[in-house]
Amino acid sequence: MTGGGRGIGAATARLLAGGGAAVAVAARTEAEVEAVARGIEAVGGRAISVPLDVTDEGSVAAAFEMTRAAFGPVDILVNNAGTPGVPLPVAQTELSSWRRVFDVNVTGAFLCAREAMPHMISGDWGRIVNVSSAAARHPMAGMAAYGASKAALDQLTRVLALEGEAHNVAVTGVYPGVIDTKMQEESRAFGPDLIGKQLHRMFHGYRDFGMLRPPEEPAELISYLCAPEAARLNGHVIRLEQLEALKE
Ligand SMILES: NC(=O)c1ccc[n+]([C@@H]2O[C@H](COP(=O)([O-])OP(=O)(O)OC[C@H]3O[C@@H](n4cnc5c(N)ncnc54)[C@H](OP(=O)(O)O)[C@@H]3O)[C@@H](O)[C@H]2O)c1
Repeated sequence: MTGGGRGIGAATARLLAGGGAAVAVAARTEAEVEAVARGIEAVGGRAISVPLDVTDEGSVAAAFEMTRAAFGPVDILVNNAGTPGVPLPVAQTELSSWRRVFDVNVTGAFLCAREAMPHMISGDWGRIVNVSSAAARHPMAGMAAYGASKAALDQLTRVLALEGEAHNVAVTGVYPGVIDTKMQEESRAFGPDLIGKQLHRMFHGYRDFGMLRPPEEPAELISYLCAPEAARLNGHVIRLEQLEALKE
């Protein structure tokens, strides 16, 4: 579980552990992943905390090594680590900011999938869930890097799905909706002078009009996609609102 220290990742780690999975809770902030892992253990689940920077090839390799040593090979991967970056118009976006967003949101998922796929294929079973965003489909001024990176992540999802399908490796994507996490909190903290009045109003509107949903809601969808029945959904990118229909 990348980005498992808080928000959607932490909620998903708890849910997967509650369902019997042994979970490696991974992210950069060690105190957060440690707290989530200890919380899982406190209620009888199996978890370890793993330091991970998904943008660093060596860190990804070390995280998988640590996970394999504790629990054996990874057969479920949730690529949840993500960043929106600073939402600015393209004309004002530094190359380093653009690259950073792609490094976390796309290259991080690629590096983790590359570590996980060989075992999943040889073991003839696997699940990868990539946590994307509706920004991949809906263009918003100021959100080029985030939207384009999530669109790239969706295409990675579809290609991985083709590469895994003969081996019962199902790869899916999720659009979580607008979720009450630190990411939204940080987006609200950008001033209108920096990101423009429209985006500023939008981020505040999510909260002020009661649109923020709890992280447990997308966590339920992600957990569903880690289960055996997700095989039929291989290659699909699914919106949170579709969860109830999927269960029928
Ligand atoms: N909240 C929303 O409304 C919303 C909507 C659509 C999509 N999403 C997507 O949902 C996912 C989770 O976001 P969230 O809302 O739960 O945000 P969050 O609370 O800020 O959590 C983001 C997680 O990603 C981790 N992360 C960031 N950079 C990382 C890196 N380089 N290496 C490893 N871990 C890294 C963070 O931990 P560290 O900083 O400690 O590394 C943190 O655990 C993201 O992919 C986001 O794009 C969220």
